[in-house]
Amino acid sequence: SFEGQAPKTWPKANLTPNARVVLAKRYLKQEDGQVIETAEDMIYRVASVVAQIEEENYGKGKKEIQALIKDFYNMMANLEFMPNSPTLMNAGRDLGQLSACFVLPIEDSMEEIFDAIKNAAIIHKSGGGTGFSFSRLRPKNSMVRSTGGVASGPISFMKVFNSATEAVKQGGTRRGANMGILRVDHPDIIDFIQCKEDNKEITNFNISVGITEEFMLAVREERSYDLIDPHTGSAVGQLSAPEIFNIIVDHAWKNGEPGIVFLDRLNQGNPTPLLGKIEATNPCGEQPLLPNEACNLGSINLKLMVIEKEGKMVINWERLSQVTRLSVRFLDNVIDANQYPLPIIDKMVKGNRKIGLGVMGFADMLILLQTSYSTEEAVEYAEKVMKFIQTEARIESQRLAEERGTFPNYEGSIYDGVMKLRNATLTTIAPTGTISMICAASSGVEPLFAVAYTKTVMDGTALVEVNPLFESFAKEFGFYSQDLMEKIANLGTVLGLAEVPNWVQEVFTTAQEIAPEWHIRIQAAFQKYTDNAVSKTINFANSATREEIAEAYRLADELNCKGLTVYRDGSREEQVLSTGTAT
Ligand code: CDP
Repeated sequence: SFEGQAPKTWPKANLTPNARVVLAKRYLKQEDGQVIETAEDMIYRVASVVAQIEEENYGKGKKEIQALIKDFYNMMANLEFMPNSPTLMNAGRDLGQLSACFVLPIEDSMEEIFDAIKNAAIIHKSGGGTGFSFSRLRPKNSMVRSTGGVASGPISFMKVFNSATEAVKQGGTRRGANMGILRVDHPDIIDFIQCKEDNKEITNFNISVGITEEFMLAVREERSYDLIDPHTGSAVGQLSAPEIFNIIVDHAWKNGEPGIVFLDRLNQGNPTPLLGKIEATNPCGEQPLLPNEACNLGSINLKLMVIEKEGKMVINWERLSQVTRLSVRFLDNVIDANQYPLPIIDKMVKGNRKIGLGVMGFADMLILLQTSYSTEEAVEYAEKVMKFIQTEARIESQRLAEERGTFPNYEGSIYDGVMKLRNATLTTIAPTGTISMICAASSGVEPLFAVAYTKTVMDGTALVEVNPLFESFAKEFGFYSQDLMEKIANLGTVLGLAEVPNWVQEVFTTAQEIAPEWHIRIQAAFQKYTDNAVSKTINFANSATREEIAEAYRLADELNCKGLTVYRDGSREEQVLSTGTAT
């Protein structure tokens, strides 16, 4: 494992006290319960391990490696780029597992089902999340030839996966996350849609219905569609498509589950169709993968990509280009610095060399550009920024391909004869749940959740936390007062406050105030230039109707989104309450 500390003369990381606490709790090396590494040491460890692979694999000289370590260090210490949590936690340490995303195959035999459970446990231990398609399992009550009994079906096995996950705390620090997907034409689809009706069931899974084009067509034409036996591939029954669509909508309305993924669209984006079909994604849905594939992610902090030029705030395209290219090189190196939990995963990952570069701090960027999230301009910024990142990422991946070779499965891929790339995919928009906290940026491409809120600290005192950008706007434009900040913390929003100028109210709009249509249009704008998928929650007011949710699904389909996750404000709490009174 890696020994070494950040050189004392190098700049300190630009972390808030809050971010240092998060790092100390979960990311920094500990010995006998004592933290024995600084945040700077951690960044140095990650930068060194990821740079040094170029010495081992490509014979780069010591001088170049030293310079690369420094470039990687600076980009992370400045908080311009952060890799996914497992890379921060495990690089240069015993576990050495650096990827956040895995998809494991589940075949229809006892041996293979329990192999998948074991492999998932190993992955969870190392901080990775796992996605599965349960679509190949025979429906419940089908025959089991060897025993003469009947099969218990995919949902009962999901419960076994769920219990196994419960028992393995992820990486010792975070609980394992899973994604379970079932095709809409699987005979057990109704049970699947209902399996998380009770919030206390299957808690370690996000679930998504795998929607097909054929199904969406049947919904539009208000007719039935075929249920397919996964073994024989032949139709074994029919269901009314509008009815199933309504059951999905109803459940999503109730508590946000299930989500949906558009399976045929995932496969239109599959860069290596000769290697098989994409049937599942990682836990948060942003990374479609082939069975036994893994992917490491990293995100650029857009909050830091805005500069003042001639008195105007503009996007710093020059730095965005540099950081994008350096990030692609970083993530390509991670593929080789990584220790994979299974030989077959090692082989798959090194064959396709998928990486997932994305962004965080998009909402912060819009605020700095004084643009409201729910506007055409915001949609244009989303497209422009992501198109730029995808283009720059491809330029770097082409450069790496010339130097290091294309990804081994390049022949027969969708890029064969089009452009030589080092990586089968380059871009993914992750939720950035923890790394956005580390970077004090808004998460992923989500809008602000609140302008200010009250946080109760250990000794019970209530602290008012104000969005730092809002605080600086308030001071700059002369409407700051402690009273106002407390008032906003209670409300969570600035909408309708006479003290706050109207244009500031619009710029600081929060997730619940933004109409679902704008949420979806921003998601679609990012998806347009993202090779993989976009992690995004579409927020609805508590009063939203089922028809509004149905409308959102139709819009997401129309705008070429790869999936959709909705959440109606307060719907989970409500459910907990109602079960509470029932018992
Ligand atoms: O910010 P961080 O790098 O910790 O992760 P994220 O962007 O919020 O999540 C990226 C991916 O990490 C998720 O889609 C999951 O695949 C995985 N993950 C997980 O397995 N368990 C968690 N508790 C959080 C994330």
